[in-house]
Amino acid sequence: MHVFHDYYNNKVMLSFEWHPFSKMPRHVLVICRYQEKWLLTKHKTRGLEFPGGKVEDNETAEQAGIREVKEETGATVKAIHYLGQYHVEGKGDQVDKNIYFAEISELIEQPTYYETEGPVLLEELPNNLKHQRTFSFIMKDDIVKHSLNRITQLFLND
Ligand code: GTP
Repeated sequence: MHVFHDYYNNKVMLSFEWHPFSKMPRHVLVICRYQEKWLLTKHKTRGLEFPGGKVEDNETAEQAGIREVKEETGATVKAIHYLGQYHVEGKGDQVDKNIYFAEISELIEQPTYYETEGPVLLEELPNNLKHQRTFSFIMKDDIVKHSLNRITQLFLND
């Protein structure tokens, strides 16, 4: 278990166990890989981040992940793997979020990308994300570092 504070100084707990905080989390974050690059979306107000969002009543968290990736980037998910879960203790509310790793098969231009400006492909993520104004606050805590380490261990062979 990793415990740290986020960009807004909210307490975050992260674990790579199977659903440690909630069996039915209401949020998802999907770390996407396409043609040996990271696939992000540019949120209109928050900036660059991995796709994700809220689980709707009629879907599973995994289905929400696949849907959000399509809506926010136009990408088709070839395979999606549960990676871990985190819990954020906000000022008023608490959030449980599943983290997935998704392998992307194709990127199809969409008529709308909802509240985002669509896909952004990056060969590498900067290692000082906290100080990058173009990146979203959700990329500015240790979630990204620990998750990318885990993905490298489990899925990437380079
Ligand atoms: P809407 O209901 O769509 O307005 O969303 P919301 O503003 O209630 O936000 P949401 O329920 O997504 O999250 C509530 C709070 O949890 C946010 O204001 C953040 O402080 C925090 N939060 C949500 N997702 C993340 C995340 O991925 N990382 C971190 N560190 N905090 C998050």
